[in-house]
Amino acid sequence: NKSEHYSTQVRPPGTNRRIPQTIIIGVRKGGTRALLEMLDVHPNIVVAATEVHFFDWDENYVKGIDWYRSLMPFSYENQITIEKTPGYFTSPQAPERIHDMNSSIKLLLILRDPTERVISDYTQVYYNRLESHKSVQLFEDIVIKNGALNTKYKAIQRSLYDIHMEKWLKHFNLDQIHIVDGNTLIKDPLPELQKVERFLNLPSRIMSSNFYFNQTKGFYCIRSDGRERCLHESKGRPHPVVNSTVLEQLYSYFREHNAKFYKMINHSFDWH
Ligand code: A3P
Repeated sequence: NKSEHYSTQVRPPGTNRRIPQTIIIGVRKGGTRALLEMLDVHPNIVVAATEVHFFDWDENYVKGIDWYRSLMPFSYENQITIEKTPGYFTSPQAPERIHDMNSSIKLLLILRDPTERVISDYTQVYYNRLESHKSVQLFEDIVIKNGALNTKYKAIQRSLYDIHMEKWLKHFNLDQIHIVDGNTLIKDPLPELQKVERFLNLPSRIMSSNFYFNQTKGFYCIRSDGRERCLHESKGRPHPVVNSTVLEQLYSYFREHNAKFYKMINHSFDWH
């Protein structure tokens, strides 16, 4: 059982902690946790339990590569270590720092419709604020300021995939970055995961029997090592119903950025 290795912190003979050969760089609310947990089903993959924030937080980056490695799980030589930190995708420093560590690294980026991502981002912040007894605002009151779209809103900025991708392509070749369709991963996870297996040159080991649809949660859950588990309740939360005019404003704001992004990656998605 892979997950026992790093919880007990005892090094199983023949294993070591290794620097990731693959990183899930984002995007925040794209489905990064689902992607990581689903890939963890693969016998040749081990995953870091928590978001490491090594390349995007200066106070961690200064601790150096040995600190980074110390946070990785034990792995056998034939296993790939993966960590996910969704903040990397939008971080100005992460591309260069990751390139400095390993210029031939393979990166995974999971994206979903940018407007949906904004609403998901808002919903997460909304619940976090409620839990810490802070004031909350309606989605529309944040997104619209003085009658116009508030393009300074961080959640909107994070959905400008073309702007962020441009920075990554300054340091990496397009074929080093595999883009996972987050909308498809929700509806039908297996084909997306099989594409990742091929990208990572791994044998096909993730099976349809590793997933089952949970009616109550409304999402796929994972079956592996004889155990069944769904993602945490904070994953797959209901979204607020957003005013249709505001939705249209968001769609039309992102349209041009999406078109640029599709050109950049030679691939298009059926986003609004
Ligand atoms: P919502 O909670 O807005 O629906 P991240 O892990 O990057 O924060 O992404 C969270 C998103 O993962 C969720 O956003 C949800 O839509 C998506 N997701 C994809 N597959 C999922 C699954 N099997 N279970 C729960 N959430 C899943």
